[in-house]
Amino acid sequence: MKKLMTAAAALALLSAPAFAAGDAEAGKAKAAVCAACHGAEGISAVEIYPNLAGQKAAYIVSQLKAFKAGERNNAIMAPMAMPLSDQDMEDLAAYYASL
Ligand code: HEC
Repeated sequence: MKKLMTAAAALALLSAPAFAAGDAEAGKAKAAVCAACHGAEGISAVEIYPNLAGQKAAYIVSQLKAFKAGERNNAIMAPMAMPLSDQDMEDLAAYYASL
């Protein structure tokens, strides 16, 4: 029994936010603001706004982090990435990767 509880505690730790993979459902809700430029289904209607549907989740996360850190410089995207937490980025990435 004690062993089982330890295993359960370890599992709970593994699913704690720091390790949480993106949640596409949560990402869909968070993507409302992104849809204005990147399209409701992640397909943009404007030439200078890239499509995000089907993009690899890890790439989306890395680009959002780069915008936030100022390593990737874009006047439009930087303020979009600024308020996002790591979890927001993971969720958004999971959502767009799922489309
Ligand atoms: C006002 C328009 C606008 C909004 C709103 C917007 N973006 Fe963007 N996004 C852009 C533009 C423009 C680029 C291209 C930037 C560049 O040329 O470097 C871009 C690029 C990106 C990229 C990189 C794509 C690639 O192929 O490298 C990601 C990822 C991204 N946006 C995610 C998001 C997310 C997530 C949101 C919502 C939180 C969002 N964007 C909101 C305009 C927007």
